[in-house]
Amino acid sequence: TRVLFAASEAYPLIKTGGLGDVAYSLPHALHKAGVDVRLILPAYRKVLMHAESIRILGWLDVRGSKRTHSVRVLEIKHPQFTFPLWLVDSASLFDRPGNPYLQADGEDWADNAERFTVFSRAVVEMAGDALGLGWRANVVHANDWQTGLIPGLLKELPHPPKSIFTIHNMAYGGHFSLHDFNRLALPRQWWTTDGVEFYGGFSMLKAGIVYADEVTTVSPTYAREICTPEFGYGLQGVLQVAQHKLHGILNGIDESVWDPASDSYLTAHYTATRRQPGKALNKQALLKRFHLSDDEAAMHTPVIGMVSRLVEQKGIDLVLAALPQWLAHTAMRFVFVGSGDARYEAQLHEFAVSHPNRVAVFIGYDEGMAHLVEAGADMFLMPSRFEPCGLNQMYSLRYGTPPIVYRTGGLADTVVDVTPLHLEHGTANGFVFDELTPAALIAAVERALVYYLQPKVWQSILRIGMHHSFGWEHSAQAYLSLYKGVQ
Ligand code: ADP
Ligand code: GLC
Repeated sequence: TRVLFAASEAYPLIKTGGLGDVAYSLPHALHKAGVDVRLILPAYRKVLMHAESIRILGWLDVRGSKRTHSVRVLEIKHPQFTFPLWLVDSASLFDRPGNPYLQADGEDWADNAERFTVFSRAVVEMAGDALGLGWRANVVHANDWQTGLIPGLLKELPHPPKSIFTIHNMAYGGHFSLHDFNRLALPRQWWTTDGVEFYGGFSMLKAGIVYADEVTTVSPTYAREICTPEFGYGLQGVLQVAQHKLHGILNGIDESVWDPASDSYLTAHYTATRRQPGKALNKQALLKRFHLSDDEAAMHTPVIGMVSRLVEQKGIDLVLAALPQWLAHTAMRFVFVGSGDARYEAQLHEFAVSHPNRVAVFIGYDEGMAHLVEAGADMFLMPSRFEPCGLNQMYSLRYGTPPIVYRTGGLADTVVDVTPLHLEHGTANGFVFDELTPAALIAAVERALVYYLQPKVWQSILRIGMHHSFGWEHSAQAYLSLYKGVQ
């Protein structure tokens, strides 16, 4: 099977969140399983800077907004990729610094509709071997709204490959106007309510759902949730119609990138069976790194970590509402690593200023710090209001840092609440709460603290989480059978 895997970001070249992790780890797992996979990304400046060498595969003329772009397709070499890595290179669209979707002021790039339409059209050309390289895809696997037009555009080819569309997050719909639709010269027949039209404009996410041969999302629970008004963002009806081709496949994690036994960002290494002294040394390193005291008393006080995009999805507002109570009534310390909405960044910063010995905050994006928090904290906070899959809770389980989560989406599918019954069954690995309120979050943390004070039980919770395999083996097979099934 020849699979062209299209995404708008991929670790370690460019990453804003879990999509980047999956666009790295899933193609690797597929490649390992024998698939002839190629990853294709836009040639953002950051990606070009990471390339070890660059080869021009050829030029394509691609229709954009009102005009045609002459686009180069590059193949780059990078030590962490053992299969071909292709880039769609248009300096005017992609050679920009920073975030792939946003300008420096946090606003979307004004020409995002054109940027990702040109990318999608180039992917379709490459799938059909427009450059005559002798490689034609059987399946194109597209991800999220940025690649949502691909399944529909493929159908315009004479012998179209099949398409799989994976939804990583319904909250980002890729909504644009009729004006954009016309300027981009998208197929007229798409403009219906059964097609891409969405409340007077159009949605690239909807396009992916409607025209793909198979649609997947990243956890079984989220696959059910998005068919309801609460999680469907107005597309629940479309998803109900697409039920027959909708599958929930839980993301895996890359167990070599996220491995406490070899993680190069850590101060000391540890395993499920030999957690100490490694885990404690990382706690100490974390406290030092964030200028919190690391004396004997501090080492016995729980540290709660959070690594997150600071957006409403992640329930950061619940955390901000709970913090005053935690600071007043417990001795816990907090380490936050994240960036996102300015108001959340500012509020976290204020806590760090008013409680310099208890709250440490790093605003920004830092891969190494994320790893150190996973390893050095005692508990990991992830009270997301919705979570298509969530990778951080799986990383924290693997690093012996029990997650505290709201029961939703992939969090519900991976975290098993610590209850007497689950302890007896040997499945309890974290703390789950059922009501989206600061009070419920506070109660969950209180429960965690109670168990933290019972070292034997606490250690067994850590052990259960660390022993569980969250690798790709199982889910990569699920994608493989979808690829085989559609051909
Ligand atoms: P989402 O994709 O919704 O952001 P996930 O849990 O699936 O949530 O994935 C988040 C990924 O992004 C993880 O790899 C996490 O470590 C990383 N991440 C998020 N924010 C930061 C940050 N500020 N610095 C470093 N890594 C971050
Ligand atoms: C999205 C979701 C997250 C998921 C990730 C990878 O960013 O918000 O839950 O883990 O995609 O699929």
